[in-house]
Amino acid sequence: MIVLGIETSCDETGVALYDSERGLLSDLLHSQIDLHRDYGGVVPELASRDHIRKLAPMIRQAIRDSGLTQNDIDGIAYTAGPGLIGALLVGAATARGLAWAWRIPAVAVHHMEGHLLAPMLEPEPPKFPFVALLISGGHTQLVEVEDIGRYRILGESLDDAAGEAFDKTAKMLGLSYPGGPKLSALAECGHAHFNFPRPMTDRPGLDFSFSGLKTFALNTLQASERSEQNKADIALAFQQAVADTLTIKCRRALQQTGLKTLVVAGGVSANTQIRSSLRAMAAGEKAAIYFPRPEFCTDNGAMIAYAGCQRLLAGQQEPLAIMAKPRWPISELTAAGSHTAHSQITPAASE
Ligand code: KG4
Ligand code: ZN
Repeated sequence: MIVLGIETSCDETGVALYDSERGLLSDLLHSQIDLHRDYGGVVPELASRDHIRKLAPMIRQAIRDSGLTQNDIDGIAYTAGPGLIGALLVGAATARGLAWAWRIPAVAVHHMEGHLLAPMLEPEPPKFPFVALLISGGHTQLVEVEDIGRYRILGESLDDAAGEAFDKTAKMLGLSYPGGPKLSALAECGHAHFNFPRPMTDRPGLDFSFSGLKTFALNTLQASERSEQNKADIALAFQQAVADTLTIKCRRALQQTGLKTLVVAGGVSANTQIRSSLRAMAAGEKAAIYFPRPEFCTDNGAMIAYAGCQRLLAGQQEPLAIMAKPRWPISELTAAGSHTAHSQITPAASE
């Protein structure tokens, strides 16, 4: 089965063609970083307009790159949420319109399910069941994954998501949007002498809280000389605190569930210090650990094409309405092919 994947939930337009037999056939990404940089963050209306400009030409290009024609495509997968409503509607309306014209099914994909399944695109994919750590700009969640669509939330962030904390701390240190990767680059020049807390690790449970770390970074910055070296030291201390906190909670989740496989996905999983800290922990626990390749950690069309393909292969059918859900808890999803998927959800654009 060949599926066209469309991702437009935030500030990246992603388009990919995935073949269940041959794997990824084409994969295109357009980032809106230049568009939003002057504003210090994503401007939703600008994001929507740019998706409108880029999406159709990218779909044409992706089909050309794959060497196929539109007649070879069996289904379309689009990100239906969570995300920015205007941005989601561009992808959803385009997907539904094309599916109607081409007389093929379209399936609404949950963005975080896309992230969660991204490691499945690698040559040696993880096997179910596993614990997943999802760390993106909007979400930080530990999920027990029994199969596609069978998710139990073990813990999540009570305030800022890990990526959000990275971005806000980066802004405070004077780094431009998007701050996460820039903070990480700055931390490479840091010396380890500031000691940051590891929030919520001194009590039982698997929830996270990262907003205090950002305040701790601000207080440290204000109490110290504003030199470039001090900023790099703060970046390193912040990153180390996030890495340690995530690692402690993941170890706890593995021990609590008795599972021996950890999957880490979402934008922040591109961070090398976090990857190596989690790898070392997994080795100690004799657990297998899986990450997507760095370009599939952040938003992309390939993960949406893959997730949609699995659901279509399982026989999932959906109403013909355009679906866009800015807020959509992953725990609302049901197993692929259960035919009740999305049944709790009004199949219409909502805000
Ligand atoms: O998954 P993603 O692309 O979009 C969402 O679904 O939110 O994640 C974006 C987040 C941003 O907060 C970005 O700063 C963060 O991932 N990020 C990183 C790194 N690369 C991306 N954070 C820390 N280190 C990185 N290398
Ligand atoms: Zn994402």
